[in-house]
Amino acid sequence: MKEIFHSYLYVRENLHELEEIMKIIMLGAPGAGKGTQAKLIAGTYKIPHISTGDIFRANIKEGTDLGKKAKTYMDQGLLVPDELVVDLVVDRVAKEDCKNGYVLDGFPRTIPQAEALDKALAALGENIDYAVDMEVPDANIVNRMSGRRACPACGATYHIVHIPTKKEGICDRCGKELILRDDDKPETVKKRLDVYHDQTQPLIAYYKRSNILKEVDGTKDMDEVFKSIAAIIGA
Ligand code: AP5
Ligand code: MG
Repeated sequence: MKEIFHSYLYVRENLHELEEIMKIIMLGAPGAGKGTQAKLIAGTYKIPHISTGDIFRANIKEGTDLGKKAKTYMDQGLLVPDELVVDLVVDRVAKEDCKNGYVLDGFPRTIPQAEALDKALAALGENIDYAVDMEVPDANIVNRMSGRRACPACGATYHIVHIPTKKEGICDRCGKELILRDDDKPETVKKRLDVYHDQTQPLIAYYKRSNILKEVDGTKDMDEVFKSIAAIIGA
């Protein structure tokens, strides 16, 4: 009887997970931990993680036209123009695997991008459920970025002090050698922070107005931050 009851609870919990459609935007400065938390959310709730930065880096690696164009902006710490990113994301979220939701990481990054997304979703009768803003002061950011190491093969990210790998310089997940991202040099990080305050931070007020803004303290350790996010999205 006890087992049947536990199975019932299990099925009920999982049905709840499937019924819940979660469309989440991660907001925050470069290095605030958007990618780290987006991967945890995507893995836990089985929804796609869509990172525009990762899409551009993959295009750069493959040498596509989009990659060549994006690289000229990214290397300077500037945003890639809206027209190169909006259609790409709007097409991506219309794909079949996004029907139960998704987590957008690094998009939108300007008010015109947010408006274009809202318009495209409204045309489908959809909307974003949560915009999670990860608050981390600028002073912490440079340290996080210089310590970040990324896997060029599987996309996993680590921090040499806060989230270390088991073997130094080697990805825990796939065994490849880790790299420091080109745009993580301190002078480029500073430019990215300026661009963030100027062009992306206004999105906080934008999503506050639509009542979907949720703020989390991104300075806590990775698991604590994830607990706060899980409590917010209520899943
Ligand atoms: P993108 O790749 O999105 O970079 P970003 O926003 O600058 O953010 P990062 O990926 O650097 O940081 P993150 O918040 O994901 O932090 P992470 O989890 O890695 O974009 C790159 C470029 O592409 C842009 O500059 C732009 O040119 C272009 N671009 C992309 N999207 C665009 C768009 N929509 N429009 C126009 N241009 C666009 O964490 C950072 C480090 O901290 C890691 O080492 C991590 O291990 C560590 N860490 C994470 N959480 C914690 C914690 N709680 N405690 C301690 N350490 C932690
Ligand atoms: Mg990222």
